Amino acid sequence: LRSIQSSLRRSKNLLPRRGYSSDSTPERKVAVLGAAGGIGQPLALLMKLNPLVSNLALYDIAGTPGVAADVSHVNTRSEVTGYMGEDQLVKALEGCDVVIIPAGVPRKPGMTRDDLFNINAGIVKSLCTAIAKYCPHALVNMISNPVNSTVPIAAEVFKKAGTYDENKLFGVTMLDVVRAKTFYAGKANVPVEGVNVPVVGGHAGITILPLFSQATPKANNLSDEDITALTKRTQDGGTEVVEAKAGKGSATLSMAYAGAMFADACLKGLNGVPDVVECSFVQSSITELPFFASKVRLGKNGVEEVLGLGPLSDYEKQGLESLKPELKSSIEKGIMFANQS
Ligand code: NAD
Ligand code: LMR
Repeated sequence: LRSIQSSLRRSKNLLPRRGYSSDSTPERKVAVLGAAGGIGQPLALLMKLNPLVSNLALYDIAGTPGVAADVSHVNTRSEVTGYMGEDQLVKALEGCDVVIIPAGVPRKPGMTRDDLFNINAGIVKSLCTAIAKYCPHALVNMISNPVNSTVPIAAEVFKKAGTYDENKLFGVTMLDVVRAKTFYAGKANVPVEGVNVPVVGGHAGITILPLFSQATPKANNLSDEDITALTKRTQDGGTEVVEAKAGKGSATLSMAYAGAMFADACLKGLNGVPDVVECSFVQSSITELPFFASKVRLGKNGVEEVLGLGPLSDYEKQGLESLKPELKSSIEKGIMFANQS
């Protein structure tokens, strides 16, 4: 009997699992929390297109059965399951390698990201409490605003639960990089595909600091005024979309793209692909602030290395000093909220 059981087990391991693309691609479960929302839906689709994902869990408080049924018909590797309501959160999270969180309310014209704090802080806190219980080793990609506070909230929740690993918590600032690349390419008149621009600091207004002095390819046709305008446009990119949508929310499609790119980088790092470097808001010691966005090298355990700022122009040095008080107070606000209840 034992030999039958073991040969069955062996043959089961040899059988291709449904949707399994290749022997060398590991199984990876990704959850999207807030999957029925403006970001969640296109992000779910983009993650379904990612061949590194074997299992895609779509969770929301409402609407996920429809989104999951729809996305599941796309003929790519991953199996898609929809989960709705808090009692299904455990199933959505169990076994996750990466959890992406775009759950929460978006801005309307006239609001700052910090105006979302009162609602989103509680949502993030409760989702992170569940992550600590059901998938404490997952990489967490925090999209919900205000990122400058929601990431510190998540860290505190994980610390309290005894599961905090600073290498596994990421504020998603990729949209700032996506914008900086697009705007720079337009101004410098270079093909956008080859452009790279680090964006450091945080994810709100002046805390978003694009480092155009480090942009590649180098553009010699940009004046100081051009750099100031590019910096301002990158910092106000979110507001530009909020105003254009005129009360119907904030960036969703470009954010889904940016979120999918960042999750893909995390998955590549987990799978051992070398030299995966992206910008993210992480626990950091490159400035005196406990969290800071900068380039990070991603690896099998999440953050492998937080890279330094590199040489800054005088304009960027000024920007760095100006952003610190606001970023510091947003971080402290998140920490205080997480510890007060
Ligand atoms: P949305 O209102 O369209 O979608 C949010 C979704 O979250 C909804 O489907 C809602 O049901 C769900 N939700 C609410 N509470 C939940 C909970 N407890 N558990 C699970 N799901 C829950 O909003 P959106 O446009 O998708 O934006 C979502 C968040 O992302 C906002 O906070 C927004 O500010 C932020 N955002 C961040 C960036 C960034 O660069 N980091 C960019 C754009 C938007
Ligand atoms: C963005 O940068 O687009 C997001 O943070 C959403 C917002 O409120 O601007």
